[in-house]
Amino acid sequence: MDKPLFCDSTGHSTAKLKKTRGLYYNLFVAKGEKILFRTHTCGDITAGDIGREVTLAGWVHRRRDHGGLIFVDLRDREGLVQVVFNPEVSPTAHRAADSVRNEHVLKVSGTVSRRPPGTENPKLKSGEIEVIATDCVILSSSKNPPFYINEETEVDENLRLKYRYLDLRRQRMKENIILRHRVIKFLRDFLDERGFVEIETPILIKSTPEGARDFLVPSRIHAGKFYALPQSPQQLKQLLMVAGFEKYFQVARCFRDEDLRADRQPEFTQLDMEMSFVDEDDVLDLLEEMFTSLVETVKPSKRVIKPFPRLSYEHAMQSYGTDKPDIRFGLEFRDLSDIAADSGFAVFRDAVRNGGKVKGICAPGCAGYSKRQLEELTELSKEHGAKGLATLALVEESGGLGVDTGTSFVARFLSQEQIREMAARFGATGGELLLIVAGDPDTVNRSLGQLRAEMGRRLGLVDPDLLAFCFILDYPLLEWNEEGKRWEPMHHPFTAPREEDIPLLDTAPEKVKARHYDIVCNGCELSSGSIRIHNRALQERIFRLLGYSQDEAERRFGQLLEALEYGAPPHGGIAPGIDRLVMLLAGEENIREVIPFPKTQSAYDPLFDAPSEVSDEQLAELNLSVRRKS
Ligand code: AMO
Ligand code: AMP
Repeated sequence: MDKPLFCDSTGHSTAKLKKTRGLYYNLFVAKGEKILFRTHTCGDITAGDIGREVTLAGWVHRRRDHGGLIFVDLRDREGLVQVVFNPEVSPTAHRAADSVRNEHVLKVSGTVSRRPPGTENPKLKSGEIEVIATDCVILSSSKNPPFYINEETEVDENLRLKYRYLDLRRQRMKENIILRHRVIKFLRDFLDERGFVEIETPILIKSTPEGARDFLVPSRIHAGKFYALPQSPQQLKQLLMVAGFEKYFQVARCFRDEDLRADRQPEFTQLDMEMSFVDEDDVLDLLEEMFTSLVETVKPSKRVIKPFPRLSYEHAMQSYGTDKPDIRFGLEFRDLSDIAADSGFAVFRDAVRNGGKVKGICAPGCAGYSKRQLEELTELSKEHGAKGLATLALVEESGGLGVDTGTSFVARFLSQEQIREMAARFGATGGELLLIVAGDPDTVNRSLGQLRAEMGRRLGLVDPDLLAFCFILDYPLLEWNEEGKRWEPMHHPFTAPREEDIPLLDTAPEKVKARHYDIVCNGCELSSGSIRIHNRALQERIFRLLGYSQDEAERRFGQLLEALEYGAPPHGGIAPGIDRLVMLLAGEENIREVIPFPKTQSAYDPLFDAPSEVSDEQLAELNLSVRRKS
């Protein structure tokens, strides 16, 4: 094949052109000679190019007709440049420009000129210059788009997803998708440099439980049988450790049929990792270094606090009401149960007597909150299960700390001593507002957690430029499922229990701690991982505890159990969610904003109209019949 010939109108070497001018060049053949489709991208041209003849290709971002002159902002992936069509310079180019509309695709040749004084645009990289067009070809026309591409206006999400290819033209989305590319590139390079091998694992496989429902794929060849799409490559990466790969990673697609939320999609991407001969600290140190250098490289405007704080699960639950705490700000809970137990307020006393808790947070400077503001907070706590919210607005009085009795209803049931003791738990003084919830521990934690988040927002305590990573450790291995009356793994069944807790598996399973770790950032669960069980007897014992019969364990996990008998090395790993990671780096609040073609909240793809019905022939081939809803 001929080597492409780069016409170098700028005097740069071909290598430099390639490096500085984006990633690709389209060539076309004219009279048997290959010439450049375009010489520059719109985002490259600066004042340094004044006087150069350039050829550009891109979309009409905006067009303004100023009588004689037509101005077109031409856009390609790299940026925008203003093109001026002057009938006196080129009547044909001007005529072409006269007929173009937004989103038409043009090829324009012209001369780079300095903009007339006073017309510069400092917001644009090319803001000092414009291209005076000498030639213009309309390469493609566009219908009127269903929403503005050149403005960041609010657009219905279904419409955005139906026309995702247009939505992705918008600046913010383009930046998000390119950021995603940079993140994945960085992670691959980082792990490659440290001896990790990227290995692909199957998508058509058998159930790999991660706590969600499986997506099933019917087999044509094996009538009546199904593959399951992997919820994660968990067992496969463990098998790769048995296979001796020692350090594995994969940018892995995972599939989970579960109820969707802002940070959940039915298919999503993990940076799946596994290592042999490691303990918890090896994994956590590596991840800390990986995330810190990632932020420094791809998003240096964001700050990271190092070392990442390490919180026990118990501490996170007690102080923040969640194992995904946003530690960009304080407002930690304090337990007031002992003080409340002796109070004259029946709600408090009864809560403690029934095994519940009375806990609160202290909102600085909020003692002056109006009744309406307090009602709003009460409503919020009720939305999350609390029966009510008690508030104490602290004021400095001549005799010491007191409360504003006008808004602090419960104060009349508390002694001055009790109020001061409660305030002392927070180190609180006059001007501060105590928000207190009584009830069962889960409800108290949940509702107070929401109040804490709300107060963090209201008080402007959330620094948008901070990425507050933390490790959550010392999780319980198991959770009691009250409905099913059985133990369930808190994460997945392959997590190793702490060595010293193994004897408790038979006597007090609830006390067994897992060798599990989570990485949380800004209140979002970013990664989960653990040191795994690497011997068959212990893995079987866990399956028994989880209620699997010998047969069932064999049927579902026989492949892993058997592999554990062939020299399985001690191993552990983790799987950061890439969508959530990019969402945090991009400053977005929904992972759909960083996924090129996501599903809606109801797991629907408006662009392809998926899922959709299939023909009777296809069903027959698969030996399936569908019960249609009447
Ligand atoms: P886990 O199930 O906790 O662990 O998942 C790991 C990470 O994947 C991301 N994640 C999701 N992202 C978007 N949409 C979803 N539906 C979704 N579900 C999970 C989260 C989460 O922290 N095999 C284990 C990992 C291991 O033990 O190594 C696993 O999959 O960021
Ligand atoms: P009620 O008896 O529901 O009218 O509530 C009387 C006061 O106690 C109101 O200020 C409620 O907000 C408060 N309160 C009720 N239940 C709780 C609770 N579980 N925790 C804290 N305060 C509560």
